[in-house]
Amino acid sequence: MPDKAVVENVELILSHPDELQARWIGSPLIRDQLVAAWLVINPDDLPLNPRLIGKPGIGKTTLAYAVAREMGKDVYIFQCTMDTRPEDLIVTPVVASNGRIAYHASPLTTAMIRGGVCILDEANRMSEKAWASLAPLLDYRRYVESIIAGIKIHAHPDFRVCCTMNEDASTYEVPEYIQSRLQPTIEVPFPDKNQEKNILKFNVPFAPEQLLQLTVAFLQRAHRADMPYTPRDGIHILRYALKMSQLREGPPEAYLEEGIEGVLGIEGLDFFHGRASAPPPAEGPNTSDAGPDDDYDIEDGNHPRWT
Ligand SMILES: Nc1ncnc2c1ncn2[C@@H]1O[C@H](COP(=O)(O)OP(=O)(O)OP(=O)(O)O)[C@@H](O)[C@H]1O
Ligand SMILES: [Mg+2]
Repeated sequence: MPDKAVVENVELILSHPDELQARWIGSPLIRDQLVAAWLVINPDDLPLNPRLIGKPGIGKTTLAYAVAREMGKDVYIFQCTMDTRPEDLIVTPVVASNGRIAYHASPLTTAMIRGGVCILDEANRMSEKAWASLAPLLDYRRYVESIIAGIKIHAHPDFRVCCTMNEDASTYEVPEYIQSRLQPTIEVPFPDKNQEKNILKFNVPFAPEQLLQLTVAFLQRAHRADMPYTPRDGIHILRYALKMSQLREGPPEAYLEEGIEGVLGIEGLDFFHGRASAPPPAEGPNTSDAGPDDDYDIEDGNHPRWT
């Protein structure tokens, strides 16, 4: 695969795709929402640019990555920050060893040129100025302009993009004209019990059954109470409890509380002991019709293909 491309007579050095051991486990409905958004069903059709929303650590990036890989695409993850500048998103100039300027294509621009998938991760951390440079890319024009290289870069027809977003204090309000281009919104919900256990098992395959069950029970109770504890927290709790048990030579379950306090703080431990104030709602957020056997797991490969 070439690592350079020439656009309007300017040579661009391309980025490398991300290679992760990611697998997404969850409701097939959510996976289908993302696949549908990226489908092109007619020569006059265009793919949509979905935004994945949900609590931090609930699996948004994992979902986008796994679905894109399932589609056989290279994936380029761009980690957005408050300091992301328009040129960071498109093309940056770097002084090469011979003193000349080399133009480096961002992961986004590389995905556009190669027809890959770009995940704009935690995109709502970006400022309006950075977003503005993406406006033409996110509508029917499908191009970006690099002021630095003085070129216009058109997206390959196979190019797809999505944004992941979560709500925390370090984010900007996404401008209205950009929000309207980032559709549909796909909300990643808390996993159900079976899914959550499989997520923890996949990420911490050496965790013993009893510790897994206790951790899943705790997380499921937290989801019903709409506490912001996610599978990522569960993975950290498991790992911490297991390390403690190795160090101090006790049964791993004996260190579950320490794991919870270490990861979620005293509030998490209070919740574990039933001392938190939030009462469980009558109906949990993940009361899905899908039974355990219907869970979607990209590894199974029993999914319809698309064109
Ligand atoms: N449904 C899932 N299937 C598989 N792994 C998951 C799932 N949900 C969470 N995980 C695991 O939890 C961790 C966090 O997932 P991920 O980074 O995708 O979350 P996120 O929603 O993108 O978080 P953030 O908002 O902080 O970026 C990863 O280690 C991932 O493997
Ligand atoms: Mg993420």
